Amino acid sequence: MNKVGIFGCAGFARECADIAYAMGLHPILIAYEANEKAALKGDYDCLLESELPANHTLPLAIGIGDNGVRQKIAERYFEQEFINLIHPSATFGYQQKNAVDQKRGLIIAAGVRLTNQIALGDFCILNLNATIGHDCILDAFVNVAPGANISGNVHIQSGCWIGTNAAINQGSESAKLIIGENTIVGSGSVVTKPCDSNAVYAGVPAVRKK
Ligand SMILES: CC(C)(COP(=O)(O)OP(=O)(O)OC[C@H]1O[C@@H](n2cnc3c(N)ncnc32)[C@H](O)[C@@H]1OP(=O)(O)O)[C@@H](O)C(=O)NCCC(=O)NCCS
Repeated sequence: MNKVGIFGCAGFARECADIAYAMGLHPILIAYEANEKAALKGDYDCLLESELPANHTLPLAIGIGDNGVRQKIAERYFEQEFINLIHPSATFGYQQKNAVDQKRGLIIAAGVRLTNQIALGDFCILNLNATIGHDCILDAFVNVAPGANISGNVHIQSGCWIGTNAAINQGSESAKLIIGENTIVGSGSVVTKPCDSNAVYAGVPAVRKK
């Protein structure tokens, strides 16, 4: 069975390991520190990052939801091979899987649905049952939490975190609805208008909280 190294030992890393197993891969979790390794729940193969041989050939993935931490690891190992973890139950519209396969470091969990003409940046997370509509753009290092629904023609800029069960209303072909970089959208929120960068929006309809 081919192996994949997954950075992280917490709950989301174990969920990424679930995806790897569903793909027929053998996950090896990679802990940053010994106490992280000691706290790992379950019977997983686990290495300390310092034990990774310099010349290793293990394909990598990052099982860490925090966009900033994920970005730092991606930069540290930029030259190495990052694969996409895509659960077999995810569905893709016309030609969308080919586009996704050009990317690296994506985590696409069970039940995710992408329609078509969607541009995903590297190292995005699309968590359980999230849906992404036609003509959306998600820049790199975006995290879409479980059950979030992104309508068509939305542009989510780098570093955004879209909360569980949030809904983002559609933009248009000529004016995508933009969520500015590093912005957080709270769980269950309904975004009806563009959102500033580096902000927190929540509620129905979503308003800027921070
Ligand atoms: C939006 C969020 C980030 C705000 O967290 P925070 O920065 O700690 O802010 P606070 O909890 O202090 O809340 C700030 C205000 O927003 C409100 N608020 C927070 N989350 C909200 C939500 N999801 N919907 C509506 N209002 C919300 C609070 O009631 C508070 O309102 P007030 O100022 O009138 O009292 C957080 O509540 C949230 O929803 N996180 C997403 C969780 C999630 O989806 N996790 C997925 C894991 S995979």
